[in-house]
Amino acid sequence: MNKTASKQINIGNVTLKSCVALSPLAGITDFILRKLIREYSKTALLVTEMISSEALVQKSDCNIAYSDKKESPISFQIEGHKPELMARSAKILEDKADIIDINMGCPINKIVKGQDGCSLMKNPELARDIVIAVKEAVNIPVTCKFRLGWGLDSKNFVEFAQLMQESGVSAVTVHARTRSQMYSGTADWGELAKLKGEIDIPYFANGDIVSPESALKCLEISKADGISVGRASMGDLSLLYRIEKYINDGILIPEPDLSEKISMLKKHLDEEIVFRGEETGIKFFRKFYPCYIKNIRGGGEFRHRLVTELNYNNIINILKEILHNGQ
Ligand SMILES: Cc1cc2nc3c(=O)[nH]c(=O)nc-3n(C[C@H](O)[C@H](O)[C@H](O)COP(=O)(O)O)c2cc1C
Repeated sequence: MNKTASKQINIGNVTLKSCVALSPLAGITDFILRKLIREYSKTALLVTEMISSEALVQKSDCNIAYSDKKESPISFQIEGHKPELMARSAKILEDKADIIDINMGCPINKIVKGQDGCSLMKNPELARDIVIAVKEAVNIPVTCKFRLGWGLDSKNFVEFAQLMQESGVSAVTVHARTRSQMYSGTADWGELAKLKGEIDIPYFANGDIVSPESALKCLEISKADGISVGRASMGDLSLLYRIEKYINDGILIPEPDLSEKISMLKKHLDEEIVFRGEETGIKFFRKFYPCYIKNIRGGGEFRHRLVTELNYNNIINILKEILHNGQ
């Protein structure tokens, strides 16, 4: 077992007892999902979905930044390209955050056309100015998350990480794909090993970690200090905890069975309804059904019925049918 993996990670003056982090997922890693993941893992670093600095400063998008208490250890991710607005956003979030993370990896057109997200990898001076401005505004550590580069022939993640370190970030997370790959192909964990010895701050490897076993493999191949897990945490609230148990203690907790997954689904749905109201909560939740009921008999039909159903009691009845069908 890789004993080095269980070491603490120091991000500036914040000590993480775990090398496992939740990846930011817009529209997914909201306050509710983080709260439910925290019931399993007390130590994983939780990260919010990206929070638009423009929206936050204009006070029009505060729902995304909602948190009812400090969810430590927790990092709030901000997104934008104007150093002054990014600094003001970080200041607004500072009290609820242990760490401020800056999004430099989002590949979607809407974001990169405005110089935000991954386009900052093509404009390292602006990325540096943002980090410097955010650092000056807050007294907590600042980190950033980016990709291997813009295109397969312009992978600049090593120099970019060095520049971010010089500018003052205390850790980086790298999604092992380029912007041009979006989410296609497989994450190249081996590329990330090039960072070893090139920066003094910790780095988290990200992309395609789906299980405790793949998490350990990613740590070994990437030589990273930590790992960041995104999409696979949808549909299994215990995944981060199971990864921690495997990496730290060598204990492989099996994946939850169908009945456990349906309980998780129901709890998640109920909490979203309390948080957002019944109709909005049920509509918001549609994206989660396929993740909780993957690979079940008759899955396609059940998924279709769930995502088109707006009546709570009918949803509960479909869940009972799924359980009955699966056992
Ligand atoms: C629906 C969705 C939303 C995402 N939102 C964000 C985001 O807000 N901030 C960010 O840095 N990355 C975001 N990402 C990228 C993920 O954090 C992560 O880098 C990527 O999904 C690869 O990791 P995974 O294979 O573990 O999911 C998003 C990805 C998806 C699929």
